[in-house]
Amino acid sequence: MTATRRRVVVTGAASGIGRATALLFANAGYDVAVCDVNDVQLASVAKEIRATGGQAWSAIVDVSDRDAMRTWAGELHADGGAFDVVVNNAGVALSGAFLDLSLDDWEWLLDINLRGVVYGCHFFIPPMVERGQGGHVVNLSSVAGLVPVRDLSAYNAAKFGVLGLSESLRWELAEHNIGVTTICPGAVNTNIVRHGRMRGFEAEESVSIREEVQKQFVQKGAAPERVAKKILQSVGTRGGVRIVGLDGKIIHWLNRLAPTVTRWLADWQRQAALDRAADADRSTKAEG
Ligand SMILES: NC(=O)c1ccc[n+]([C@@H]2O[C@H](COP(=O)([O-])OP(=O)(O)OC[C@H]3O[C@@H](n4cnc5c(N)ncnc54)[C@H](O)[C@@H]3O)[C@@H](O)[C@H]2O)c1
Repeated sequence: MTATRRRVVVTGAASGIGRATALLFANAGYDVAVCDVNDVQLASVAKEIRATGGQAWSAIVDVSDRDAMRTWAGELHADGGAFDVVVNNAGVALSGAFLDLSLDDWEWLLDINLRGVVYGCHFFIPPMVERGQGGHVVNLSSVAGLVPVRDLSAYNAAKFGVLGLSESLRWELAEHNIGVTTICPGAVNTNIVRHGRMRGFEAEESVSIREEVQKQFVQKGAAPERVAKKILQSVGTRGGVRIVGLDGKIIHWLNRLAPTVTRWLADWQRQAALDRAADADRSTKAEG
């Protein structure tokens, strides 16, 4: 490894925002360490990073596994010292009414989306501080980290938590010249809905509803590359909260100015999506 090249670590880099971020940093001249639980897709991202001429270290690591995160960070630091940039991106989705969620669902979501970010910060920030040359931490929250959403209580709790953690850290780490950015995207066209958990519907219903939500994300969601660009641009700044996408900005400001209207509109949109999913379900049954 060349000592002069900057180094970034990205969690959950096999897909979506993490993959786009890892590749953008590689193209910007960084060496990149990536982890994920999806081994096949992660291997292909590592290959794409190497094709840019940069070094790639890839590892199958579950961010919710404390020991695995400790070992991985230890190996990376032993190999090349502290990182310049840490991107805590890995995340999953869980939707369903609070009354339909099990405690296993809660633990799964909080372990990955909140505890995973805590571990990323815990294991990667101290060497950065010790090195004394500054750096940057980027944590992925969401517009759902700013605005409560019906049927997303666990996701909301984790993303509000990530935002609180990051803003508190930003304050503490400023004296070490380390910026902390919280990224809050609106809908982004990735695999998050496809792979997420959905509770409270019958199996058949949930297929149509997932397809309907996925369709909305594909048609209206931002490209993951747009979020990646915002992440790269945040490096070298003092950090702060960055909302990505017009939908996210509108929801955030509407909620601040008129929360009742925001909820009424969200309920109306939700019902329209449920109706479309029910229609799709009926026509599939009629065809079959
Ligand atoms: N897609 C959106 O609309 C959206 C909006 C706001 C915030 N976000 C956030 O952006 C981040 C990235 O999500 P995405 O949309 O790119 O989704 P994605 O599903 O395309 O990518 C997430 C990646 O994280 C990996 N992952 C999941 N659990 C893991 C674990 N335990 N350990 C390591 N890796 C794990 C997955 O395998 C996947 O490769 C998440 O934190 C998500 O909550 C996404």
